Amino acid sequence: MKPISIVMVVLVLSLCQFQILSQTPQTPSTSGGNDLITKTCSSTPYNDMCKSILLSSPNSNGADLYGLAQIVIQIAAENVSNIYESINQLQNGTSVDSFLDDCLTDCLESYQDAIDQIEDSVTALEFKAYNDVKTWVSAAMSDAATCDMGFKEKPGYQSPIAQMTAVFDQICNIILSMTQLLSEEKIN
Ligand SMILES: *[C@@H]1O[C@H](CO)[C@@H](O)[C@H](O)[C@H]1NC(C)=O
Ligand SMILES: *[C@@H]1O[C@H](CO)[C@@H](O)[C@H](O)[C@H]1NC(C)=O
Repeated sequence: MKPISIVMVVLVLSLCQFQILSQTPQTPSTSGGNDLITKTCSSTPYNDMCKSILLSSPNSNGADLYGLAQIVIQIAAENVSNIYESINQLQNGTSVDSFLDDCLTDCLESYQDAIDQIEDSVTALEFKAYNDVKTWVSAAMSDAATCDMGFKEKPGYQSPIAQMTAVFDQICNIILSMTQLLSEEKIN
């Protein structure tokens, strides 16, 4: 072969390889991918939060709806135990008066329940018991709300964890929407 043909062959080969490489990251249309994430998240009340959770999880690539729900519920479990830890730390702070201290004690109790309920919802999801998932997640949301309300009982006070609670509430709402989709899928 003339040197020029060799160059051509190498060029063609590397172009092919480039094409193959650039095609591999595409997920097969049958199993999830970004389309499913977009579709799923747009049917939840918190599209942006939903997408940010799922797109930042390495496990979401190629996951089906059930797999996506598992990811979000896992995030909820981490969230709720982080919030519990934050309350613990707040209570150890120096600037805690007796009203705040009582509120935080009640909150620890509420969040201990919420932790258990999210654990129960993880188990329910494993069994595809979608109604139970809804029950436990709703119970956890209500416990988080109870904690928040405690601070409002005295004028001039506000929940020091309001921001975290709001995020947790959004994540729970996303799970509820996904669970709804899963139970519809089960019927069809
Ligand atoms: C809860 O999860 C969200 C989404 O991953 C994250 O932005 C937030 O920091 C978490 N909050 C806590 C208290 O872990
Ligand atoms: C808060 O104080 C209690 C009792 O002194 C201790 O057991 C706990 O580990 C502390 N928690 C944090 C988050 O510092």
